[in-house]
Amino acid sequence: MAYSRIVGTGSYLPAQALSNQELESRIDTSDEWIFSRTGIRSRHVAAPDEKTSDLALNAARQALDAAGIEASEIDLIVVATTTPDMMFPSTAALLQHKLGIKGCAALDVQAVCTGFVYALAIADKFVSSGQCKCALVVGAEVFSRLLDWSDRRTCVLFGDGAGAVVLKRSDTPGILSTHLHADGSQSGILNVPGSVHNGEIHGRAFVYMDGPAVFKFAVKVLDEVCREALDANGLKGSDLDWLVPHQANIRIIQATADKLGLPRERIVTTVERQGNTSAASVPLALDAAVRDGRIQRGHKVMLEAVGGGMTWGAALLVF
Ligand code: UT7
Repeated sequence: MAYSRIVGTGSYLPAQALSNQELESRIDTSDEWIFSRTGIRSRHVAAPDEKTSDLALNAARQALDAAGIEASEIDLIVVATTTPDMMFPSTAALLQHKLGIKGCAALDVQAVCTGFVYALAIADKFVSSGQCKCALVVGAEVFSRLLDWSDRRTCVLFGDGAGAVVLKRSDTPGILSTHLHADGSQSGILNVPGSVHNGEIHGRAFVYMDGPAVFKFAVKVLDEVCREALDANGLKGSDLDWLVPHQANIRIIQATADKLGLPRERIVTTVERQGNTSAASVPLALDAAVRDGRIQRGHKVMLEAVGGGMTWGAALLVF
């Protein structure tokens, strides 16, 4: 049986960090409120001239270096983003050009915070089926540009960044299974309702979130989808070496780990210093734990995420 396997990871965070203390001086909030409710202390914000494709390029180059692979070997690029450089062409096509290559397939995936898990699932199908030999999968966001910086309910939560992996075909596992879901009837609890019409933005182009409703939804579906992934592979939560969750809220992350019976030391968290970077959060966390040596070859790793749509998903893999 053929698998796709992660052969390199990379990430990038913009230089500017924005702390809770700095937010305290701008809006009616406090470090105590933000940290106790979410686990966030600071987040990174892209420079005005930095685009999603720039963040993606930095993460992609690191992942290619880690894999020891030339950009010319890539035959599929999938970028998960909610904040593309342009309406079109895709950020994946722009990234391809920045990598100095042409000809390979390039597409964007829009599943908001679940985007990277969706993108990985798509790339896995192409690589494990033999249709592609080497895929670059990126989650990249400049979510700060979708925020109303006077709305304390949302602006304290998000940050910018990018994470990437390179996938290659392998006879040994590999990505074991991926599990994707969506429920469009829940689109009202988390969205950016603006749209473009006659060259103008109509409606609000800022994030709206019913926090408590999203929280409840997230805790339920993340538990369900992690169980689905474990069941599909005949595994128990305690068989996992690492949980690499979407980094929205430390309380959601810990609730999911607790329900799986996974000790807290086996959760990878970056939420404290990065906030919620939407589609970038899972590959950023994965890269952090690979680079500091926590995630080793042969470890069983669960990736999971939930986001606007609502969408949710999980990927179970052997690193
Ligand atoms: O990435 C996609 C997935 N996203 C998520 O998973 C996010 C899920 N939701 C959450 O993480 C939490 O719901 C939040 C962190 C967003 C909010 O926490 P909460 O405990 O659900 O608070 P709340 O929305 O119920 O608000 C409680 C109070 C309100 O005041 P009143 O109405 O009780 O007087 C808010 O106005 O906290 C107030 N509040 C704030 N106070 C200080 C809301 N935001 C802030 C703030 N600083 N930044």
